[in-house]
Amino acid sequence: MHSPYHSGSSERGGRAGLGLVGYRAMDTSKSVMTDLPDLQAYWMPFTANRQFKRDPRFVVDAQGMYYTSHDGQQLLDGVSGLWCCNAGHCHPHIVSAIQEQAAKLDYYTAFQMGYPRTFELANRLAEMAPEGLTSVFFTNSGSESVDTALKIALAWHRMRGEGQRVRLIGRQKGYHGVGFGGISVGGISSNRKLFGALLAGVDHLRHTQDLEHQAFSRGQPEWGAHLADELEEIVALHDASTIAAVIVEAIACSGGVLVPPKGYLERIREICDEHGLLLIFDEVITGFGRTGEAFASQTFGVTPDIITLAKGLTSGAVPMGAVLARRDIYDDFMQGPEQLIEFAHGYTYSGHPLAVAAAHAALDVYQDQGLFERGKETGKLLGDALQALKGKPYVIDIRDFGMLGAVELEPVPGKPTARAQEAFRHCFDNGLLVRTTGDTIALCPALIAEESHIAELVEKLARVLDSLS
Ligand SMILES: Cc1ncc(COP(=O)(O)O)c(C=O)c1O
Repeated sequence: MHSPYHSGSSERGGRAGLGLVGYRAMDTSKSVMTDLPDLQAYWMPFTANRQFKRDPRFVVDAQGMYYTSHDGQQLLDGVSGLWCCNAGHCHPHIVSAIQEQAAKLDYYTAFQMGYPRTFELANRLAEMAPEGLTSVFFTNSGSESVDTALKIALAWHRMRGEGQRVRLIGRQKGYHGVGFGGISVGGISSNRKLFGALLAGVDHLRHTQDLEHQAFSRGQPEWGAHLADELEEIVALHDASTIAAVIVEAIACSGGVLVPPKGYLERIREICDEHGLLLIFDEVITGFGRTGEAFASQTFGVTPDIITLAKGLTSGAVPMGAVLARRDIYDDFMQGPEQLIEFAHGYTYSGHPLAVAAAHAALDVYQDQGLFERGKETGKLLGDALQALKGKPYVIDIRDFGMLGAVELEPVPGKPTARAQEAFRHCFDNGLLVRTTGDTIALCPALIAEESHIAELVEKLARVLDSLS
């Protein structure tokens, strides 16, 4: 499966001195796996199980920017695992933090019990957060963060005597995980249609994509701020007094890396303020440096009332999510008899010590190695290199923002997603891991990426595009 143009392991050593890439020398021969397991029992998530099991792909090892496949192939990771390993794979500081923690305190319950490092982690996040969002609730995933944020919004209005505010507004093409809350406000029909009527009282804004007016925009498209005005129509239809919150991704990543048009988020904020609606930004992907700052809300200069986080919080090393809420929202819950639980919500693994240790270590790495600023610089290279693919076969749009990018392909007539899947397989066979959504190839390299990795990524992608049937 070695690609004729695979560049081998020359980049694996990383940049001398910084220690950012290729954390340990890897003997790839040891990673080659000859005995594959029986594939039947495992019901794989978000996978075409039968197709996969006919033509499986395995990874067995990862370091820095690369995975190793079971047959010893080096795969440049173009998507940070699944938009999450922002510090690259197996960063030694994160690895040792998890190892030490596992031997020190494996578990405690955060219900009526404290572990100092969890409070310290909340304090660190509050310090990084946009102004005012200094109350932190821990979860174990993005889906749980979204459900938690929606529950906070509903409960908060009720606490304030506005219990009739029960409607939630999402957006078409939005992805907010797979809990019932997340799929209800989410806007990807294949993730919704099997699961009944979902939450009642949900409405959706139009998505912001428009190829006619936006194709090949660099960064934020100029066209489309007016699409936010549709929120006024939704408010007029349902009446503001029935609406609790609006939830949108700062950049709609799983829906195809749709960057908000200039002025769009600002307008959504204004309308929410006008009508007393809470604004939730889902920053499960855009958090922790994707856009050049800790959070995309800071990059875009628009502050929501609640932010959902996960993924990069631990650089993907241990599952963890978090919700940042405005301090006065928290304060409004702090009423009634003191012995009563104010917000009946939480998870067995909220604030799990292994996740707390991994998150502290990931934040150390982001800070000590200046990865957010680094990502901003490398993101410009990524954007330039991707935009240069304009004119390649079937490419109908290229989008970029920070360390995020997308190449949209013209679908094969009558076979949506087929062309992107072909591209995915070619990329994999040629030593590059990408993610596809619809007919879009999405890219999200780790913030440690060197110029050489961006060059390798785009060169491989270019050849794959040239080879598409
Ligand atoms: C914006 C957004 N929200 C929520 C989620 C769900 O996160 P998880 O898969 O950790 O539940 C994702 C996952 O990709 C996401 O991109």
